[in-house]
Amino acid sequence: MEKFIIEGGVRLGGEVTVSGAKNAALPILASTILAPGRHTIENLPMVSDIKVMRTLLPYIGAHISNGRALVVEIDEIKRPEAPYELVKTMRASSLVLGPLLARCGYAKVALPGGCTIGARPLNMHINALRAMGAEITLEHGYIEARAKRLEGQEILFDNPTVTGTENIMMAATLANGTTIIRNAAREPEVVDLTLYLKKMGAKIKGEGTDTIVIEGTERLSPSTHRIIPDRIEAGTFLIAAAATHGTVTVKGCIPEHLDALLLKLKEIGAAIEIMGDVIHINGPSKIKPTNITTLPYPGFPTDLQAQFMALLTMAEGTSIVTETIFENRFQHVPELVRMGADITVEGMTAVVKGAKKLVGTEVTATDLRASASLIIAALAAEGTTEVSGVYHIDRGYEKIEDKFSALGANIKRCMEE
Ligand code: EPZ
Repeated sequence: MEKFIIEGGVRLGGEVTVSGAKNAALPILASTILAPGRHTIENLPMVSDIKVMRTLLPYIGAHISNGRALVVEIDEIKRPEAPYELVKTMRASSLVLGPLLARCGYAKVALPGGCTIGARPLNMHINALRAMGAEITLEHGYIEARAKRLEGQEILFDNPTVTGTENIMMAATLANGTTIIRNAAREPEVVDLTLYLKKMGAKIKGEGTDTIVIEGTERLSPSTHRIIPDRIEAGTFLIAAAATHGTVTVKGCIPEHLDALLLKLKEIGAAIEIMGDVIHINGPSKIKPTNITTLPYPGFPTDLQAQFMALLTMAEGTSIVTETIFENRFQHVPELVRMGADITVEGMTAVVKGAKKLVGTEVTATDLRASASLIIAALAAEGTTEVSGVYHIDRGYEKIEDKFSALGANIKRCMEE
């Protein structure tokens, strides 16, 4: 197992370029199942979640190339399945459910099982596909779905599920008739998937709003696409700059995807300058407290909650952090407390009493974004911090220690004794 050893107290400075968005790449790679022929997907981040998808697609029957630009050809579906050994390492493998069902009328996908941030069931995906005429059984830890041809349907989600919207949108592109998804997710990653589906010939309207209309077609054709930049990676670096009173330029991002975060960074006293696809941040000398509530896009993203909380532990006052998306996304709190933070959790709310000087110690990452939170805390802390469980961070961040080192951080990856 690997860990990071981080010497804190360094003001970050310099430039960092954002990689492609993992959460756009995953559904777009799954969508290649919908059309035989040669798809070319560029700007893929080299992260372990994408590696899992690069294993799953060939398992299903794809021929794929190597490298950052991925050529995928699935002329024949060999195994319309996502086996447990792959799904357990990456729950977003469930994104092949809709495309397989639409392409070959059958899909067998392992139920993902537990996740540290919450139960994360797939009931909305399953209910929607059933409403579209799929026969679905849940046995022995697998979802088995059958449908000669899915029927267009009006779907209303209890809450705007991101991968639920993506799964149903992909399934609906080859359905008979029109599907309307209401209370749809509005995330930029859903919009990027829609862009690629439309390049393949899908007839879709309303992406980026809470109502998406998909008119089913007989077939789709492969195309090429460049994945959008990762707004969560960009946000992570912006928060790290603010936490270390640094001056950082984040390049190759889409600033409007970060509006909710930028508003909060200004509230805590950071100076932000936007020039095209570049965001320049001057971290404040004194961090002001503020309150954040995570919400579906365009609200404050749950995937930046842990990182922003690390920043708030050093604010001159008390902040309230409310997590409304996942029921167990405060796993970073006990670890931050071990570094000297004063945080009390009451249900879905954390009260962060600031003005604490964090002190380095050994901490353990429990999930992808909690890892990023602990790295930010370690960069700002006095002394040395050892962050173990580094495999979590590699799921969603490409060479994060190299990018932070290029900003002046003193961070080393090494093997745990
Ligand atoms: C996507 O997960 C992202 N993953 C997550 O990013 C992100 O945190 C999440 O959206 C929210 O923005 C990918 O895109 C691959 P949801 P997803 O369905 O689609 C409940 C990261 O760090 N729900 O929008 O799984 C669910 O339990 C990851 O990169 C049901 O109850 O999230 C959660 O409480 C973490 N039934 C809420 O809805 C369902 O059928 C939102 O989940 C589906 C979801």
